[in-house]
Amino acid sequence: MNIKLSKKSISDIKADITVEFLTSDKLSDHTETKILNQAGFKAEQDSICFLHERGILACGIDKKNNDNIRSAAASAIKALKSSNYKSVKLDVISNSSLAGLIEGIVLGGYEFNDYKSKPEEITLKNISLCINTLDFKKVQNTFNEALIVANATCFARDIVNTAPQEMHPQSMVYLAQLLAADNSLECEILQEKDLEKEKMGAMLAVGRASIHGSALIHLSYKPANPKKIISLVGKGLTYDSGGLSLKQPASMVTMKMDKAGACAVLGMIKAASELKLDVEIHGFIGAVENMVGGDAYKPDDVLVSRSGTTIEVRNTDAEGRLVLADVLSYAQDKVNADYIFDFATLTGACMVALGQYTTGIMGHSSKLKDSLCKASSKSGELTGSLPFNRHLKKLLKSEIADISNVSSKPYGGAITAGLFLDKFIKEENKEKWLHFDIAGSAYTETPWDCNVYGGTGAGVRLISNFLKNID
Ligand code: BES
Ligand code: ZN
Ligand code: ZN
Repeated sequence: MNIKLSKKSISDIKADITVEFLTSDKLSDHTETKILNQAGFKAEQDSICFLHERGILACGIDKKNNDNIRSAAASAIKALKSSNYKSVKLDVISNSSLAGLIEGIVLGGYEFNDYKSKPEEITLKNISLCINTLDFKKVQNTFNEALIVANATCFARDIVNTAPQEMHPQSMVYLAQLLAADNSLECEILQEKDLEKEKMGAMLAVGRASIHGSALIHLSYKPANPKKIISLVGKGLTYDSGGLSLKQPASMVTMKMDKAGACAVLGMIKAASELKLDVEIHGFIGAVENMVGGDAYKPDDVLVSRSGTTIEVRNTDAEGRLVLADVLSYAQDKVNADYIFDFATLTGACMVALGQYTTGIMGHSSKLKDSLCKASSKSGELTGSLPFNRHLKKLLKSEIADISNVSSKPYGGAITAGLFLDKFIKEENKEKWLHFDIAGSAYTETPWDCNVYGGTGAGVRLISNFLKNID
C-alpha cells in the first residue's frame, strides 16, 4: 500500500472513493444526510458506512482529535482492505491529527501473513492524503516522522508474531545484526561463553535447558553530538514455557510474545536512527528460551547473579526478572547513561492491576514517570504508574539467599517484580531508571484502537515520542 501526501485540493485528486470523518453534530449538514440516515449511520466513534454510489466512506468520530482519528482510520482501512477499491483519498483535518491518521492506516491495516499459504489479496493500492496548507514542508516532516515510527512499530510486531521455532535467541542475534547493518548501528554479541566470563549466572540458568544458546545483544546508535545518552533494556524470552514450574496449557499459548520487550527495543532504536535523533541510544537485549529438560534450572536452586547478589529460585516461571537482573547489571557497567529504561512482558499481575491495554510504569523518580506519562498520552499508548513501597519490598526476602525470585504474598505481583529489578539498579542510577511492564499491552487476541491480532509493538511509539522531545 502506497500512502502519499498531496498539497492538491481533494477535488483535484482522482480516486475510487473518498473517506470522510464525520461527527454526529455535523451529520445534518452533510449533502447525503438522507442516505446516511436511512443506513442507520449515527457517526458513532469507529462506525463506518459505505455510500458506494456516491463514492464515499463515512467514518464516525466523537470529536476530531488525534486519538479518535487514529482508531477511526483503523476501522476505515480494515473496511477498505476487504473492499475492491483500488485508490482512496481523504482530507487531512489538521497537522496535529496527521500522526494519528498515519498510525491508524499503517497500524490498523497491518497484517501478519507469513504462515498463510494463500493470503487474501488486497486490491487497495493507493491512499492520497490531501492537505491545504501554506507550510507544506512542516506537514511533510510530520508525515515522514509518523511513517518511520509506524513502520518501526510494525517491525517490532513482525518479530513478536514470528513463531518460536523460527524466532529463537540465535535468530534474534541474526536479526539485530541485520538491523545494525541496515541502519549503521554498532552491534556486539555476547554468546554463552562470553556470558560465563561475565558471570551472568542468573541469565545463563534460565536458558540452560534450551537447545538454542542464550545471547546478550548490545546495539548502539551514536550520533555526533548527542543531547543525552539512554540505555534501553529488553526482555527477549523467545519462548516462556514456565520451565519446570510449567505453565498451564492455556497460559502457555501466546508465550512467543515474551520477547516483546526485546522487539520493542529493536523497534525504538530503528525509529530513532531513521529519525536521526540527537540522542545516543544503547539497546541491551537478553535473548533466552525458558524450557524444560534434564539440565533445566530448578525451584530451590540458588543462582549467583552478575552483580554478586544471590537469588533463591522459588518459581522458574519468574524467569524474566532473572534475565533482566544480569542484563541491567551489564548495561550499567558498560554505559554511563542519563536514563535506563527496561521493557518486559514481566507479570500477569500487571494486567490484573491495569487491564490489558495499559503499560505499567515503575521507578523512583516521580518527575521521570510524569514525563513518560505525558509522552504516552501524546503517542497514543496507554500507561499507568504503579507505586513502589517498602512493605512490598520485604516480601522478596529469602531465608537462604539475598533475595527470592518471587514474592511471599499473592498481591501486588507487578510491583514486587519491579522491586526485584530495583535490587540490581545501582544506588547512583535509581533516579534514572524506569521499568515498563508491557505484559498486557504488547499482545492482543482481539483488535482494539489501531492494534490487530498479535503483537502491538507497545513501547515504540511511546519512546519515540519521549526521545523526540528530549533536551
Ligand atoms: N512472561 C510471563 C508474564 C506474562 C504473563 C506475560 C501473561 C504476558 C502474559 C512471566 O515470565 C511469568 O510467567 N510471570 C509469572 C510470575 C509469577 C511466577 C510470580 C506470572 O505472572 O504468573
Ligand atoms: Zn515466566
Ligand atoms: Zn516470561
